[in-house]
Amino acid sequence: MLLLDNASGGPQKYLGVKVTSGFACESMAVAHADLGINSGTFDKFVSIAAGVLAAKPFSVGADDLGTIGTVLVSTKDDIVTDTTTTAEKACTAPAACAAAAGAGGAG
Ligand code: HEM
Repeated sequence: MLLLDNASGGPQKYLGVKVTSGFACESMAVAHADLGINSGTFDKFVSIAAGVLAAKPFSVGADDLGTIGTVLVSTKDDIVTDTTTTAEKACTAPAACAAAAGAGGAG
């Protein structure tokens, strides 16, 4: 959220570092370095995020969705570390996914 707020000119500042006192985000590359995220998984995440934002209760409009999408996609090179395949990876925690879907998640 800080990243989005910062990128869209909001008052919050995305610092890009982790500090020991107070809260600050790690860089996107550091936060996702060990996660083995590939291109297909990243794209799926962005499409789910867009779907959630477009739906109620958020009802984000097309212009704003475009802006948000551009911000999210701008992080792709930092987040995608697995270039061996572009196929979206299956969820490795199906119980947690089912619980999230049951709670109104994008499934
Ligand atoms: C537009 C794409 C994404 C953005 C903007 C984003 C943003 C973030 C941010 C801000 C954090 C917290 C960093 C911190 O510790 O300060 C984070 C952590 C994390 N993200 Fe993402 N993320 C994205 C995509 C993804 C995807 C596609 C996955 C998995 C499929 C993912 C999995 C995770 C996980 C597991 C963590 C926790 C890492 C840890 O605590 O060590 N992220 N992400």
